[in-house]
Amino acid sequence: MAETFFDDWIARHYAVLWPELFEPAVVGAAVDFLANLAGDGAALEFGVGTGRIALPLSRRGVRVRGIEQSPAMAAQLRAQPGGGQVEVTIGDFADTAVGESFRLVYLLRNTITNLTSQDEQVRAFRNAARHLTPDGCFVIENYVPQLRRLPPGQTTHVFTRTPVHVGVEEYDVAAQIAYSHHYWVVDGELRTFSTPHRYVWPAELDLMARLAGLCLWQRWGDWNRTAFTGDSQSHISVWRMAAS
Ligand SMILES: C[S@@+](CC[C@H](N)C(=O)[O-])C[C@H]1O[C@@H](n2cnc3c(N)ncnc32)[C@H](O)[C@@H]1O
Repeated sequence: MAETFFDDWIARHYAVLWPELFEPAVVGAAVDFLANLAGDGAALEFGVGTGRIALPLSRRGVRVRGIEQSPAMAAQLRAQPGGGQVEVTIGDFADTAVGESFRLVYLLRNTITNLTSQDEQVRAFRNAARHLTPDGCFVIENYVPQLRRLPPGQTTHVFTRTPVHVGVEEYDVAAQIAYSHHYWVVDGELRTFSTPHRYVWPAELDLMARLAGLCLWQRWGDWNRTAFTGDSQSHISVWRMAAS
């Protein structure tokens, strides 16, 4: 299994490092959207992490399971109220099978880009399709690569800047890899975190879906179903079985 960047310190500080992900409006809209698709079926989250969305979705009455590479992230999930309701399998979501089918398989917050080769990303789509019931669907939340922000010759852009967090994206366009560099001040100390991501456009994801026997059903600009446009910086995409 590939190396995990989500170590014990990151796992314990996840909500402090990315507080915007935990805003009630963000969590509420994502849970509403996913609960609607799951209906009375079960859900499987790839890269379930600390259960930011899996736990409230489970509290909503959806049976949720997860696949997670980082034992430290999974431990944080288990330690929370209701953590015992979300069964987590430690493994790589590109290949790991959990032995049952789901109405909904989902992958949040750019986590598809944690797989740094096209081959692994294609395998993740195939693994999602393998876990779907015939009426099921696969949801990805992912950013639109921000290459339009780069003037010729420039490889970096600042994607966040607050008094305690600076984030810089560094693009290697030949390799289709973006390195996300984070600099935080936590408890008065500077902390850094750099991870490689294989950035990917919606069109390439649609092709991966086709290779897995899925077709695009919906694409939105956010969890509130705002239209996806040329200005959208991220997308929520939903694929379902090609025959449905
Ligand atoms: C950005 S976090 C998102 C966590 C959670 N889904 C959320 O929305 O808060 C990415 C998570 O995916 C996990 N992850 C990354 N690559 C993985 C892989 N190949 N297989 C399983 N988990 C993976 C990381 O360990 C981390 O917990």
